[in-house]
Amino acid sequence: MSAFTSLPGFRDFYPETFAVRAHIMGVWRETARRYGFEEYDGPPLEPLELYIEKSGAEIVRQLYNFTDKGGREVSLRPEMTPTLARMVGARARALRKPVRWFSIPQLFRYERTQRGRLREHFQWNVDIVGEDHVLADAEVLAVALDALRLLGLTAEDVVARVSDRRILERLLLHAGVPADQLPATYAVIDKLGREDEGRIRERLHEEAGLAAETIAEIFRIFGYGSFEELASAYAGVDGLAEEIDRLAEYFEHLNAMGFGDFVRFDPTIVRGLAYYTGIVFEVFDRAGELRAICGGGRYDNLLRALSDVDLPALGFGMGDVVLAELLADRGLLPTYAPRLDYYIVAIGDGERPLALNLARRLRGAGFSVAYGLRPAGVGRQFKDADARGAERVIVVGPEEAAAGEAIVKEMRTGAESRVPLGELVP
Ligand code: HAM
Repeated sequence: MSAFTSLPGFRDFYPETFAVRAHIMGVWRETARRYGFEEYDGPPLEPLELYIEKSGAEIVRQLYNFTDKGGREVSLRPEMTPTLARMVGARARALRKPVRWFSIPQLFRYERTQRGRLREHFQWNVDIVGEDHVLADAEVLAVALDALRLLGLTAEDVVARVSDRRILERLLLHAGVPADQLPATYAVIDKLGREDEGRIRERLHEEAGLAAETIAEIFRIFGYGSFEELASAYAGVDGLAEEIDRLAEYFEHLNAMGFGDFVRFDPTIVRGLAYYTGIVFEVFDRAGELRAICGGGRYDNLLRALSDVDLPALGFGMGDVVLAELLADRGLLPTYAPRLDYYIVAIGDGERPLALNLARRLRGAGFSVAYGLRPAGVGRQFKDADARGAERVIVVGPEEAAAGEAIVKEMRTGAESRVPLGELVP
């Protein structure tokens, strides 16, 4: 029989890789706590219907869907946002608004596996429901950036590229994109940077039916180096001034929160998912070597589409895969080593009950304790203690036991002392 392996795009988490995941998730949870977000979760399997149309064609192609034994069309969750919208929608009247919730679901997408893209990943979702003020938009990006900062990354390592679908929509309409071709146009623009520019121009023509001069105008829009230049070049476009003012306010809030260096306006950011309606962003490594670390934005119509209530909403998802790659690259991952507070060495079988009693008391006091699970020589037991990262070894032997004592050895210094049994548990 040949040995089994995991499926392509799925990971085994051996303790040293699990430690990386735990480190990242620990920082995600801590950051969410600092910003006053509450944790929630939903089912990993949902009705297929939840993802059709609302999320967009790309994610639907990647669904892990099947018919269950009861004949229901179901799918593993490819993202958390529809579940969140459904859950908040169902209890909206009772919940204090704005709702500030976070979750760390494992998500499943049948993607072409490549660097930074697997078929399962963990994604930190942070969302606010029930607030349309632009300060909420600044708040969610601040949460994402603060977590990255807490992980040790700086504005030299990562950048948040920000745009606003309302601004882009007005500019695209002005450039001659027909209103019904906006979704197709966004889907192609989303591939900029990942696909050759010539190919993007062809696709804008083939998939969105755009005329050559419209495509040229779109690239002129994308050519503006700064927010201010673009704003003044198109100041006359109907309704644009108001949208520009809101985005300017957003940048002011982020400056005041200390994240000015991390953010940059980039009109080519549209996001691949269909439901976004306002400010959108993606966080990338500055060097531009990796896929997006994080993406999100405002989706004011999704609750109305998936529930009985109509509430504005916004948030982001940050994946663990690209983030772990970037942290490893920058030497920001903690080195892994197993550790124990105590290892108990029993000299002979006669000391076993005493050793077990001692272990019980130490564990009861909150310490981590291990010992050999079969009789072995003292040297062997010490070797095991060392390999398991024990800080201290307690040796119980017949003479010490008779004297009501044990020997405690500090493994780092080698210092040994005799301690009365009653004083072993601090
Ligand atoms: P998304 O851009 O599809 O957004 O995913 C967010 C992040 O999850 C990506 O930037 C990436 O780091 C990670 N990610 C996505 N797919 C994969 C994959 N196949 N392998 C590894 N990592 C991946 C969403 O899912 C939105 N629902 C986020 C959101 C929450 N928007 C508002 N609230």
